[in-house]
Amino acid sequence: MDAQQVLDQIKEIPAMPNVIVKALGIIKDDTSGTKELSEIMAYDQALTSQVLKLVNSAYYGFAQEITSVGKALALLGMTQTRNIIIAVAMKPMLTSQGGRDMWKHSLRCAVACEYLADKTGVVDAGDAFTIGFLHDIGKILLNIVDTMLYQKVRTSVKNGMDIIEAENELFETNHADMGFLLAKKWKLSVLLANCIKYHHDPLSSSMPQVSTLAYVANKISHDEPDVFDEALVKEQLGLDVTTLMQYRDKIEEKTNVLFASLNAG
Ligand SMILES: [Fe+2]
Ligand SMILES: [Fe+2]
Repeated sequence: MDAQQVLDQIKEIPAMPNVIVKALGIIKDDTSGTKELSEIMAYDQALTSQVLKLVNSAYYGFAQEITSVGKALALLGMTQTRNIIIAVAMKPMLTSQGGRDMWKHSLRCAVACEYLADKTGVVDAGDAFTIGFLHDIGKILLNIVDTMLYQKVRTSVKNGMDIIEAENELFETNHADMGFLLAKKWKLSVLLANCIKYHHDPLSSSMPQVSTLAYVANKISHDEPDVFDEALVKEQLGLDVTTLMQYRDKIEEKTNVLFASLNAG
């Protein structure tokens, strides 16, 4: 069985939250984008209030209270606001299928990608946040296909097995390939789809630099950083381990603030 056949088995493929579809769609057009995004948010009061809570959190540290999405857009800009919306809107799907760990890992990886993009310049930092946030969406699908079996994958990984190997063995496909299909179904950008597909195998990507960024961001986004190919990261991103571990401390700090804000109520 390949990824497509596994996908075909799923009766209800999760839809991407509508607000994200729209937010990702309008980002390219800055002039009309601001107005459009405010309008979209106006239809979703629950989401709006969570977004505003986050905007007013210590992560951004504004002195004055921000009371509308329009104001947030003016202060944070389109990309940052979009990223907050994505983080808030994806939370239910990530927590329902992968639990709190999956949610925190996605958030941490988003912050890591954004931070590393900022430091290396290999990709736009705003785009990088989305890459990190969505890199593991394929896990959602495998969990839906067979929750018990996916639990076995988790156990194997805890016992030291490589996740892609464990998934291939039990599902005959893996979350990178499944995530790629979902990204296509959700009409995500080529850049995003590519990073999702190759975040465990960046050199097979036609965009090796940004895929390596996703790769190493993922590796350092677990409670204990995973072992990674240091030579590859040095070669593609020019980063050595010492620098990366210093960055990781910063990333951890930022993630904790963001995580606390998003979980407060
Ligand atoms: Fe992954
Ligand atoms: Fe991951």
